[in-house]
Amino acid sequence: MRSFLSSLVILVLAGLLGGTAFIYFGLFDVSATDPHSSTVHWIMDQARIRSIRVRAAGIQVPDGLDDPQKVVMGVDHFAAHCAVCHGAPGVAKEALARGLYPAPPDLTDAAAHYSPAELFWILKNGIKMTGMPAWSDHSDEALWSAVAFIEKLPGMSADDYAKLVAASAESGVHHHHHD
Ligand code: HEC
Repeated sequence: MRSFLSSLVILVLAGLLGGTAFIYFGLFDVSATDPHSSTVHWIMDQARIRSIRVRAAGIQVPDGLDDPQKVVMGVDHFAAHCAVCHGAPGVAKEALARGLYPAPPDLTDAAAHYSPAELFWILKNGIKMTGMPAWSDHSDEALWSAVAFIEKLPGMSADDYAKLVAASAESGVHHHHHD
């Protein structure tokens, strides 16, 4: 028992020392051009998915998320703030987004991976150590309308998207910019 405990202590100390040396000698490459190994990638994916799932668990989804008016309001928000990094049907990401690591994903399938409450949580809080900003300075109503729009993204054609953008420009629900 005693030798087991001392081996354990030695192992933990060696681990701490190794970890400190790894950081001190700059062995971790923070460069955005050096992709994570598949193991690190997998661990980060699990950490993100579990973190979001646990934190979004208490969020109540408001009624009428598929109200067409909400989707029109959401497209306005999306075109103004999100398409730059994520692109949209028929719209390419802008140059800024191409150098980001992790790369901002295409959101066509986002609604298949996350519940509406989880999407709302992501928009409101952002994702640490990635380029994904928190949009907590936007009203919950604006964020829910962006979620309503993301729910409609699967199968949306470039033409559908262009029509929605035109409808939002006409409808007077135009997004007001604020700092
Ligand atoms: C500056 C670039 C940038 C902007 C602007 C941006 N995002 Fe992101 N977003 C990212 C990055 C990078 C990730 C990937 C994070 C990761 O890998 O964990 C991401 C992830 C996401 C995800 C999770 C997708 C997934 O498959 O895990 C959603 C949903 C999302 N963004 C929605 C939005 C919405 C809606 C907006 C506008 C309100 C927006 N983003 C604006 C960079 C951006």
